Amino acid sequence: MAARKRGPTAAKSTPKISEETQKQTEEIINPNSGDPLITPSKLPEIASISLVFFSLFFYLLFYHYKIEEDLRRSIVINLGLSVLGFIITLVLIPVASRYVLRRNLFGYDINKKGTPQGLIKVPESLGIVIGIVFLVVAILFQYFNFTSDSNWLVEYNAALASICFMILLGFVDDVLDIPWRMKLLLPSFAALPLLMAYAGHTTIIIPKPLIPYVGLEILDLGWIYKLYMGLLAVFCTNSINIHAGINGLEVGQTAVIACAILIHNVMQIGASTDPEYKQAHAFSIYLVQPLLTTSLALLCFNWYPSSVFVGDTYTYFAGMAMAVVGILGHFSETLLIFFLPQVLNFLASCPQLFGFIKCPRHRLPRFDPQTGLLTGTNDGTLVNIFLRWFGRCTEKQLCIRLLVFQALCCLFCFALRHFLAGWYK
Ligand code: UD1
Ligand code: MG
Repeated sequence: MAARKRGPTAAKSTPKISEETQKQTEEIINPNSGDPLITPSKLPEIASISLVFFSLFFYLLFYHYKIEEDLRRSIVINLGLSVLGFIITLVLIPVASRYVLRRNLFGYDINKKGTPQGLIKVPESLGIVIGIVFLVVAILFQYFNFTSDSNWLVEYNAALASICFMILLGFVDDVLDIPWRMKLLLPSFAALPLLMAYAGHTTIIIPKPLIPYVGLEILDLGWIYKLYMGLLAVFCTNSINIHAGINGLEVGQTAVIACAILIHNVMQIGASTDPEYKQAHAFSIYLVQPLLTTSLALLCFNWYPSSVFVGDTYTYFAGMAMAVVGILGHFSETLLIFFLPQVLNFLASCPQLFGFIKCPRHRLPRFDPQTGLLTGTNDGTLVNIFLRWFGRCTEKQLCIRLLVFQALCCLFCFALRHFLAGWYK
């Protein structure tokens, strides 16, 4: 939960501020309102990195694979709406920031403690803007794609209901500061609309090497499949939320995974001749494109040094959106390999999450205001493990290292799928 009014820095004691620090702080604070200025977005950096991804995506979509005109048109319309969502999010974030600050929804940047930036009230829960824009784009898109008798419409709306419910519960958590062991359960409620409406198959294809042992090629899991769907939603949401606390990490990891999902979807559509299979992956594209573009807009403000925080509203929303596409797109195993850093972070966190070792409110590195470097603590998180293994570094360097690792895990997943194709399934 974010630090409301008090903030982790202020919670223990109000820091003594030197005259120089006080002056520097006043420069960052808006003299008229007392609010921090929402610093200019890092649009040029984010746009140039995104260009690399979109070049590859367009190459695959328009040139490399022969995709039917209808399907391609739907993807392009969805992309157009998503770009519109990107622009609207860019405009709305500074506006919403002022409103959340007025309601005392802010946090202090823990990794800046002891510097003037550590004294600024950073607007919290800006994930609410992204969630709303995402929903509007996803709802409007139905007009351009689905016929009224489409079976997809039912699942699509159930998916949106789950995502919407998750945004609501994430925002409730940000506002009410729910004890964190309780909030581990929130996503299981949010997944209910999807689980109840799900009428798709509940079977799994047994991997070829296991068929002689199991004696079956296809296994119907029945209600256990729905349980698995629920657990996947709980995992995806919480694993993003606990791999966090460094400027840009929450949104950055989502953006990298979303890029990987999109590439995977286009590759699957391009390589398949089964219309149902193609629809499942197109479905995923329709939800992941707006997720990616709105997240990129948020990243423009959340990248180091963050002028807004995303809140649990965003981490839960992003995790649920990805879980939903993994489930309904029928590629949850692939999704879990894209989530490899989150899986490792979860495994490293287990002793603290399950109470074997004391779990402090924030499991973040130690910041040295003199050098501006972070040092890893003994808390079991990937953030700390990276600092212990690869040495002290700045917050921005650490975030870049973690995102590069995320991208490498996605590449590993593509390589694994390539080498196991035909042999595994
Ligand atoms: C989870 C983690 C916690 C981590 C926190 C950081 C577990 C069990 N919980 O808690 O260890 O410290 O996320 O998000 O692993 N913040 C920063 N810089 C950032 C982002 C956040 O300083 O770049 C701080 C701010 O004070 C912000 C607060 O973290 O207000 C938000 O924390 P919150 O998302 O509420 O923490 P949890 O999700 O409960
Ligand atoms: Mg959080």
